[in-house]
Amino acid sequence: MKGIVLAGGSGTRLHPATHVVSKQLLPVYDKPMIYYPLSVLMLAGIREVLVISTPGDRPLFERLLADGHSLGMSFSYAEQAQPNGLAEAFLLGASFLAGSPAALVLGDNIFYGAGLGEVLQAASAEPSGCTLFGYRVDDPERYGVAEFDASGNVVGIEEKPKQPKTQIAVTGLYFYDSDVVEIARSLRPSARGELEITDLNNVYVARGAARLKVLGRGMAWLDTGTPESLLEAGQFVRVLQSRQGSHIACLEEIAYRMRYIDGRALEGLAARYGKSQYGAYLRSVLEEETQA
Ligand code: TTP
Repeated sequence: MKGIVLAGGSGTRLHPATHVVSKQLLPVYDKPMIYYPLSVLMLAGIREVLVISTPGDRPLFERLLADGHSLGMSFSYAEQAQPNGLAEAFLLGASFLAGSPAALVLGDNIFYGAGLGEVLQAASAEPSGCTLFGYRVDDPERYGVAEFDASGNVVGIEEKPKQPKTQIAVTGLYFYDSDVVEIARSLRPSARGELEITDLNNVYVARGAARLKVLGRGMAWLDTGTPESLLEAGQFVRVLQSRQGSHIACLEEIAYRMRYIDGRALEGLAARYGKSQYGAYLRSVLEEETQA
């Protein structure tokens, strides 16, 4: 399976902070926002990732993440000229995917919780259909909202409904089989002029091929699209990291724990961060492992 991080958009709700730089490059506490969704793909076991951004931001993402080999990963880059909708990721990523199944994560979505890695690896191992993740929210009218039958199967998703039928929002993390590109090609823009991920997901629902896993209260799904939610997400990361002493979305640590890189490589990466807290943390991961 290959992965796509969709990190375009205009970030208008964060203006002026996002006037000249992508929202997904802003820090969430101690690291760029895109580290969080990227870490989700890495935890799912995905090693080939396409980062889609605006043409103006692309060079910055390339400077930040490079080709990924130091993390045992392979990163490539593509541009979305306009925010034409989430499902456009599969048109822009068609040659990258080259017939492979795909996981898509939105560049501004943060997931955190015990057992997340297992949930992700199970989703990526599904041989067909799609796996979506739901999360109970107070303001479902802002999202794609899932509807279920009596046995808990998803029977439809409504995009930003005025009267939501449930409180389960569909999150920005999606796993698809290799039909996804063909389905994306069949979509037409919605009334708001976007290729809607909800339309794509509803094709899978109509085929009886969509699974929706509701993430429980032990999991966090955080929004970062407004000044308040961005600050809250940063505070959440800070509190957890300082209380537990372990970092959220530390790409080097994940690469090491997933065995994409060895201890020597991690030592080299830690050295690059010099005296920063991040560098000290990477060294502590290594020491802990060598003592264990
Ligand atoms: P949104 O939060 O819906 O849009 P945005 O980031 O442009 O922000 P704003 O509403 O403040 O203008 O987007 C969700 C995520 O999807 C975000 O990471 C940006 C990304 N995105 C794209 O990359 N391309 C798109 O066409 C759209 C609609 C979103």
